[in-house]
Amino acid sequence: MSIDTVIRIVDLLAAICFILALKGLSNPKTAQQGNILGALGMAVAIGLNFKTPGLHRFGLIILAMVIGTAIGVPVARYVKMTAVPQMVAAFNGVGGGAAALVAISDFLQAKPKELAVYQIVEVLFGVIVGSVSFSGSVIAFAKLQEIMSGRPITYPGQKIINAALFASIVAGTIWLCTDPSWQLLLAVALLSNVFGVALVLPIGGADVPVLISLLNSFTGLAVAASGFVLHSVLLVVAGTLVGASGTLLTRMMSQAMGRSIVNILFSAFGSAVIGEDSADVTGRSVVSAGVEDVAILLAYSRKVAIVPGYGLAVAQAQHVVRELADLLEERGVEVFYAIHPVAGRMPGHMNVLLAEANVPYEKLHEMEQANTEFATTDVALVIGANDVVNPAAKTSPGSPIFGMPILNVDEAKNVIFMKRSMRPGFTGIENELMYSPGTTLLFGDAKDSLTLLINAVKSS
Ligand code: TAP
Repeated sequence: MSIDTVIRIVDLLAAICFILALKGLSNPKTAQQGNILGALGMAVAIGLNFKTPGLHRFGLIILAMVIGTAIGVPVARYVKMTAVPQMVAAFNGVGGGAAALVAISDFLQAKPKELAVYQIVEVLFGVIVGSVSFSGSVIAFAKLQEIMSGRPITYPGQKIINAALFASIVAGTIWLCTDPSWQLLLAVALLSNVFGVALVLPIGGADVPVLISLLNSFTGLAVAASGFVLHSVLLVVAGTLVGASGTLLTRMMSQAMGRSIVNILFSAFGSAVIGEDSADVTGRSVVSAGVEDVAILLAYSRKVAIVPGYGLAVAQAQHVVRELADLLEERGVEVFYAIHPVAGRMPGHMNVLLAEANVPYEKLHEMEQANTEFATTDVALVIGANDVVNPAAKTSPGSPIFGMPILNVDEAKNVIFMKRSMRPGFTGIENELMYSPGTTLLFGDAKDSLTLLINAVKSS
């Protein structure tokens, strides 16, 4: 068997690893296995590159790999789960930037005037999409890391400026196809980077994770384009997989938020409402209780729904919440966890968090199932969640979240909100449910309050 055939077979094996990795990642039970398979495929793919004919400067390649590993491993190991979206943004930006640089370097090495139009288009696709993904991810990272304001940033004439930028990129593309030169290519790359920044600036708050997923799919497409440029089947396969799965994820997330992708990209959602200053200013009062009262209510219930949200993740209260659930079950209370698809800040956030505390999967009820159960639930214990239970999504046509599917905790006999203050959730929208007669607030950090609740239930 020739070395070429061996390379093709290994190529195929790596591609199979990537496909199986995605399959594994679609279920919490098999996610770890999927991750390992993906890493294995990637290791094989990187190894294969060393067989590229005419490859030289091994020292530089190894140095780049050492630097990348030295940065990537500790970042991935020690990142807090609530900071994963910005880590994904950073890694994604690097991927997009790399794809753009590969395309540029390929163009510079060739004789531009001798390139066929389709080859120029391949290069341009990688440069434009990779650059937009790179600069857009940098801004998304800065927003999520709170290096800059997370609010949508808007200014007069923004849409016209963005349209003009886009038109210039299209014009540059057409010009390059007719008269290719490296100066023009670099100008298009620069414009694409500016466009990436301009595109992301007006996107804020809760929409940023969806944007990252979209940029991730852009990076996949840019990598697939590099695959065409470099004649690498594996890059085409891997890039297409990332592009397709990123697109599907973006669609699923926007559906779960009840919004279209166009609305997320262009509506500057939340510019008027996000922030602490949008908390209730009407001075209405709410009913709050101490841990002892809540403990008695829980201990004497038949059925309790635990509704986790972003605050549970921030407080790292996943282990104590499980302890409370176990304790209630020992006392004969039926307990289930109601999981909203966009509770938290990233896809599957609550599932991952609760799996870490070994909460059995069958106790996690997806939104559709949970919504059939609230009417027979005595207490809905809403822990650090807000937007995903906000009835404004059903009842207020004027509300920015109108149409977003929510967990119908308002149907439960009693609703307990565990949070630290009257501040709203990520979208900055007031939650009327907090003022309802059947609602009680237990103020405090979720982990502290749950710990106190456990002790109070034990002694009730
Ligand atoms: P949020 O609506 O953001 O509410 C979180 C609540 O947790 C806040 O009201 C906050 O109130 C409370 N909190 C924060 N720290 C706490 C702590 N240490 N202890 C107790 N409570 C704490 O969260 P959610 O209901 O999970 O909704 C998620 C939001 O993110 C939605 O708007 C969703 O659209 C958006 N989003 C999610 C995703 C994915 S994929 N998950 C993607 C994009 C957007 P206090 O400050 O008063 O404590």
